[in-house]
Amino acid sequence: MKILVTGGAGYIGSAVVRKLIDEGHEVTVIDDLSKGHKEAVHPKAVFIKAGLSNLNELEKVFKQTKFDAVIHMAGYIEAGESVINPEKYFTNNVTNGINLLNAMIKHNCKKIVFSSSAGVYGNPEKVPITEDSETRPVNPYGETKLIFERVIQCYSKAYGLEYASLRYFNAAGAEEYHGEDHDPETHLIPIILQVALGKRTEIKIYGTDYPTKDGTCIRDYIHVSDLAKAHVLALKNNGVYNLGSEKGYSVREIIEIAKKVTGKDITVKEDARRPGDPAALVASSEKIKRELGWKPECSIRDIIKSAWAWHKKNPEGYKKK
Ligand SMILES: NC(=O)c1ccc[n+]([C@@H]2O[C@H](COP(=O)([O-])OP(=O)(O)OC[C@H]3O[C@@H](n4cnc5c(N)ncnc54)[C@H](O)[C@@H]3O)[C@@H](O)[C@H]2O)c1
Repeated sequence: MKILVTGGAGYIGSAVVRKLIDEGHEVTVIDDLSKGHKEAVHPKAVFIKAGLSNLNELEKVFKQTKFDAVIHMAGYIEAGESVINPEKYFTNNVTNGINLLNAMIKHNCKKIVFSSSAGVYGNPEKVPITEDSETRPVNPYGETKLIFERVIQCYSKAYGLEYASLRYFNAAGAEEYHGEDHDPETHLIPIILQVALGKRTEIKIYGTDYPTKDGTCIRDYIHVSDLAKAHVLALKNNGVYNLGSEKGYSVREIIEIAKKVTGKDITVKEDARRPGDPAALVASSEKIKRELGWKPECSIRDIIKSAWAWHKKNPEGYKKK
């Protein structure tokens, strides 16, 4: 297939592009590099440096190639920032996404796989979370993901667009040539590994009085390679799917595993809860297993080991090789 990947220079996007190319697809990446890294893009992919706000460029891209599908991963990802600056998130994650949909419909490209998020669920009443759990985002980032899912559904009804919205839980881990290098880094595992590398002095635990086994927040971590596989399967199906490992680990548990994997001591500082952090987010991925035959293969140890190998090899991320 000929596939356009938006945000293909980003952390998850670069792993998805690698997987698509390994499976024999022809891939074009469009990314404005506002957050991504040119070095992360597979050399066999066609790379276009442009933003989804650029209507002329979108027109050119769709005129040049007749794409069979689009995997839409471009967007801003920091929930905390979205509370302070919602305009940035609604403009990029919703308005710019609609530009993409309009170009697709105009050029008769009728399949989209969208990077949604567990953020659509907000503070769930119970875990594991199924796709029919209530969607009540607690920040503008989660709202943008839910709104865009709904826009896609309206386009599907009106214009026959086929879609898969993939609600990722916490993407983590690395591949040989692709790792996590966000700026700023807000994700737990890379921050812990930066402490292990001596690039940060400590890891802060926000809240130690949650109603969980050790008082710290529980999250569901999914290896980026397992996520990438799901995108290839989702090209053939329609629907909304959770993507998680179905296992929850507390912040303290992740730190303990990271200590064992790295052999380093990791300084911890306990801090107050952050507003809006749910106590526990764990996916039910039953639906995608049943309907698409997807199965995550990497354990939490594999995730942290692979991330550690990448961070040790690339202590400055993609900046300095
Ligand atoms: N990382 C996670 O754990 C996680 C969890 C749930 C959902 N997601 C979603 O998955 C997607 C990828 O996340 P990631 O962690 O790889 O983030 P990332 O920041 O590494 O990748 C996003 C990419 O999109 C590009 N981009 C942003 N706005 C753009 C625009 N207007 N035009 C063109 N390119 C643009 C950035 O330059 C970047 O390369 C995002 O949509 C995110 O919301 C991520």
